[in-house]
Amino acid sequence: MNKMWAGRFKKQLNPIADDFNSSIRVDCRMYAQDIKGSMAHAAMLAATGILKPEESEKIIDGLDGILKDIQSGKLEIDPSAEDIHMFVEGELTKRIGDCGKRLHTARSRNDQVALDVRLYLKDEAAELSVLIKDLIAAIRDKGLEHKTAIMPGYTHLQRAQPITFVHHLLCWCMMLCRDLGRLQDTVKRMNFSPLGSCALAGTTFATDREMVAEELGFDGITLNSMDGVSDRDFCLEMLSCLSVLMMHLSRMSEELILWSSWEFKFIEMDDSYTTGSSIMPQKKNPDMAELIRGKTGRVYGDLMALLTTLKGLPLAYNKDMQEDKESVFDAVDTAKMCLKVMAPMIATMTVREDKMSAAAKEGFINATDLADYLTKKGVPFRTAYKTVGETVALCIEKGTVLDELPITEYKKLNPLFEDDLYREISLETCVKKRISAGGTGPQSVAAQVDYIQSILAQ
Ligand code: ARG
Repeated sequence: MNKMWAGRFKKQLNPIADDFNSSIRVDCRMYAQDIKGSMAHAAMLAATGILKPEESEKIIDGLDGILKDIQSGKLEIDPSAEDIHMFVEGELTKRIGDCGKRLHTARSRNDQVALDVRLYLKDEAAELSVLIKDLIAAIRDKGLEHKTAIMPGYTHLQRAQPITFVHHLLCWCMMLCRDLGRLQDTVKRMNFSPLGSCALAGTTFATDREMVAEELGFDGITLNSMDGVSDRDFCLEMLSCLSVLMMHLSRMSEELILWSSWEFKFIEMDDSYTTGSSIMPQKKNPDMAELIRGKTGRVYGDLMALLTTLKGLPLAYNKDMQEDKESVFDAVDTAKMCLKVMAPMIATMTVREDKMSAAAKEGFINATDLADYLTKKGVPFRTAYKTVGETVALCIEKGTVLDELPITEYKKLNPLFEDDLYREISLETCVKKRISAGGTGPQSVAAQVDYIQSILAQ
């Protein structure tokens, strides 16, 4: 195919090199952003007198037709084109003739691609935010369905202290609220238009970059033309956000997998989000959660790939940077898919309060509360801690639990123990009395739900 840049070349590009060089398979998805960017550029070229109004109008109409035809499927993107920018410009000239060749005045593909990726990722960030919010709402609602359910809280995966199931799930919501915030921060820095930086040094035409920026919904323009075309920090920031998000989804998945096991059985995944085994008839595997955990590695890989690609690149644009899109698009696609499967998977799972409560009754998870009981009666905490340690040892020896050890035994360990201790160490009391801000107690849970609501309403 004849290249638009063919002028100085005596030979055609080698077909293998041509295929190797082409990025259309990856960047074709930015067609709408590319066209909208070109429309804003053409409007600016008329407003500044660089193009005649009728030329600009013809270009904008032509671009609008291309956009509509791609959207309706009437126009297929040619996979043998070099990239989406060349394809759209070529198609425009095919449609409106020589006037189409004026579009690229005071512009380069270098600032064009930097613009398109920013526009594309801004759109994706908006979609990701909606999906993250959907997931937060699904998790919160599942927690609230089982507001009073008590389960063991763990450290080192050893039963530690009683918590409410809803408190555990709200912890997941908090992680995701931060992911939303990180995404918003990323967009804040991404939201400057590089268009008009041109190849690297700006242009001799008196363009109006602010006009284009405003038209495309940016907060302003990038201030250094070399930075405008060489900066891919916004891709890296997006990839970092997505890596942290995936790390969160992976930690949640791990707990869901664990809780689905016969050893825990705190939850049962709905049949529609689990799979069977080809040999073991009894199996019901949490494949979706495992895949989310697995795909996390892939998103980290995308981040590492782009960091490595950019490392050591001299200013300004280098073709290496064409690789940015493969990484960042893959990460966006992967994260979106994971969010889309995770929300309904959680919404449809069954929570086994009985299993949680049975697990909470074992493992002496109210031992801290017993120590607090003595401490509130004036015993120094460290001393109370030691006494309760001895009490636990005694219970293990007798094959009983703190709740069932007779008061006579307690009295031998410390005469300050009274009958009211049993109420104080009941799991319900342990949870209710965790009154500190952010604790598992009901006031804190209510405050957390309010906070999450305020984030979802933004
Ligand atoms: N397809 C290219 C990319 O994605 C567009 C920019 C090409 N610029 C150039 N000078 N060859 O990076």
